[in-house]
Amino acid sequence: MTDYDDLFADTAPDDSVFVDKGVLDPLAEPESIHARESQERELATVLNGVHDGYLPPTVSVYGPPGTGKTLTTRRVCHEFAERHEQVAVEYVNLKECRTLFRAANEILYELTGERKKAYQGLDGVFAGIWAALADYPAWTVLLLDEIDHIRRDTNYDPNEFFYRLLRGEGKLKRDISLSIWLLSNELLEIDLRLDSRVESAMSDEQVFFPPYGIDDLRAVVGPRLERAFHEGTVPEEVRAYGVQEAARRWGDARKALTLFRQAGETATKRKFDRMTRECVDANLETTEREATVEKLLSLPFNHFFVLTGVVSWTENSEIKQPVTTAEVHEALSREGVPDQICLGQRAVRDVITDLETMGLVETWIDSRGAEGRIKRIETTFEPEWVPETIEQYATESTYFTKLDPV
Ligand SMILES: Nc1ncnc2c1ncn2[C@@H]1O[C@H](COP(=O)(O)OP(=O)(O)O)[C@@H](O)[C@H]1O
Ligand SMILES: [Mg+2]
Repeated sequence: MTDYDDLFADTAPDDSVFVDKGVLDPLAEPESIHARESQERELATVLNGVHDGYLPPTVSVYGPPGTGKTLTTRRVCHEFAERHEQVAVEYVNLKECRTLFRAANEILYELTGERKKAYQGLDGVFAGIWAALADYPAWTVLLLDEIDHIRRDTNYDPNEFFYRLLRGEGKLKRDISLSIWLLSNELLEIDLRLDSRVESAMSDEQVFFPPYGIDDLRAVVGPRLERAFHEGTVPEEVRAYGVQEAARRWGDARKALTLFRQAGETATKRKFDRMTRECVDANLETTEREATVEKLLSLPFNHFFVLTGVVSWTENSEIKQPVTTAEVHEALSREGVPDQICLGQRAVRDVITDLETMGLVETWIDSRGAEGRIKRIETTFEPEWVPETIEQYATESTYFTKLDPV
């Protein structure tokens, strides 16, 4: 029988390097924003348009994960709305919205606290949105976060959705001034392949959040490390090393915070009185894997599918790397693969080019050997991470619905 008094600690162990680990939680709102002055200025410039009677119909706020898009955009808009009563700001995160109906309903819920039933359809939801906005201040800024999670939808077309949001009849009739800010990792026009009708209704106002460099990450993470750890437990040399590796690999503040938290846990577990380089190293791979898996899960179906082809050959019971385009194509055309997802050589080649742009594979031309000049392909990460992710992709990816039986 377990004695729970033995099991639970009364206090933190004396040898813990942490004072307040919660400070390193990426979800905890930091007091101040560092190293994003130029983005703050760009966002403020857009908002200042209110004084001239103009806000752009859309603003694209984009950049890789963990670069402060959500934090900075929310805060700047909030501070502006605090100071200007003719402006309202609403924030909606669309990450969990798998259909356009859900997404529209989430916006309605943010505005009114109520949702429409499915039978009321997108028409019903939009009617509700325009009715709610009619009572809003002169200007409404609508922040739509993680908008790139919106996908092809069997019931509605994203073009239709955006067109309505931008040019909806109810909106025009009531003369509602709405500025829709789209927060995403990629530029939306590229990602969703919006048609020209929608594109011409959007403005080309863009604010880019680049990955953090070493100095930026130091400024972002530094104050949090001061508060999270006992004095002297994160030696300057180790802090510099962690920041440098986080910047070099990800440029992502969220991952940098996580890396230091995990390195601190390793130090405590090993009963070290301070964090060492080895504590950082021990967690680099874990964080790296998490980062890659996250990328894999957000890939369109064809891209993920082609990657499974890239890692599907074995040699001495290990995944064979590199492979050729022909081998990838052959793997993807094996018996048992449904016709509807088969890809031609050319399509495979195009997807591989995309994957290379995304930094997931590396390719080079090999001119040695009997076959002449031939393209070699290998993953930039541990190839095992692909098969290890298949099941999760099948359950979590919004792209996977493509395989639903018709
Ligand atoms: N410039 C910054 N200053 C302070 N903390 C930051 C900064 N950028 C990111 N962070 C931290 O990282 C977390 C993730 O940032 P977030 O804005 O959500 O990134 P994104 O939306 O680009 O993925 C924030 O909640 C915050 O804790
Ligand atoms: Mg975000």
